Amino acid sequence: MHIAVLDGDGIGPEVVTEAVKVLKALERHGINFEFTEALIGAAADEKFQEILPEATFDLARKADAILFGAVGGYAQDALPRGKRPGDALLQLRKALGLYGNFRPAIMFPELVGTSTLKPEFVTDLDLVILRELNGDIYFGEPRGITRTADDRRQGFNTMRYTEDEIARIAHMGFRAAQRRRKKLCSVDKANVLETSELWRMVVTEVGTSYPDVELTHLYVDAAAMTLVRRPAQFDVIVTGNIFGDILSDEAAMLTGSIGMLPSASLGEGSKGLYEPVHGSAPDIAGRNIANPLAAILSAAMMLRWSFGLEDAAVRVEKAVRGALAKGLRTADLAEPGRRVVGTDEMGSAVVELV
Ligand code: IPM
Ligand code: MG
Repeated sequence: MHIAVLDGDGIGPEVVTEAVKVLKALERHGINFEFTEALIGAAADEKFQEILPEATFDLARKADAILFGAVGGYAQDALPRGKRPGDALLQLRKALGLYGNFRPAIMFPELVGTSTLKPEFVTDLDLVILRELNGDIYFGEPRGITRTADDRRQGFNTMRYTEDEIARIAHMGFRAAQRRRKKLCSVDKANVLETSELWRMVVTEVGTSYPDVELTHLYVDAAAMTLVRRPAQFDVIVTGNIFGDILSDEAAMLTGSIGMLPSASLGEGSKGLYEPVHGSAPDIAGRNIANPLAAILSAAMMLRWSFGLEDAAVRVEKAVRGALAKGLRTADLAEPGRRVVGTDEMGSAVVELV
């Protein structure tokens, strides 16, 4: 079990250190990994003048799974398109064919009070957003900034999905729903966009092979509203790249903090890329205050999806709950009467419980 550790920028290295600590703690239970680290994003750009060096890509390609931190910093985000740290992540997802991004949003009972929504709306929250990751307006050509005939600047992008791209993510969504409460909600903007019209058609066609799954459709604006109105009604949401990007941040906040949200990006095989949803947060980097639980929960997803180690995954998830139950909170989860701990102390608490 060879893990590529790409911790990246900002708080990436701090939270990934804690996730690696937790994985290493599994050695006590006879589970051993081989870790190899490599630079990506702004960190790689500083050393090699490349956001995704060949050696890093090679490692990611060969490893069984990738533990990813975050990429991006203030300075590098002003670089030309294609050379920004975030582009390294987009390239990696695409080049490795990791087209399905699972972002579960689960309410830990201990954190009900930290959600911005009233407790009765989030208590039973247990949903997963499956975001398509290799297509859509993120990658569609043509794109650019040009001049109009009357010499005004004009920016444009292309929203594009082929039926095969839609079908494979739909299958992934239906299979995910089969393992859960058997409800799949497909989100699009079919009342306005042709891309979405095709999306809805193909998802419906694929659905005929999954009669045990209840398929519904929502327009993305209504989905955004329903996520804050009655979020517990959702089981699996499947949607395109841009809508998924937006809705998954919204869903993250329901759980109290984006610092709690893990993710897994998968393709056809067992290889996956596992990353916290929160990003590099350069404003709090290097201060030992970031929440490592999203990275640790991402490692749990890795145990489950890439290595088939369900028991170990559950052990890590239980340890996270245990640390919260003990009253430990990082700054993002601060509540009156709770002890605020640093990144490393939270990680160590999970290690101890593992
Ligand atoms: C995410 C992030 C990325 C995305 C950025 C960093 C390119 O927002 O993973 O949600 O838009 O996919
Ligand atoms: Mg995002």
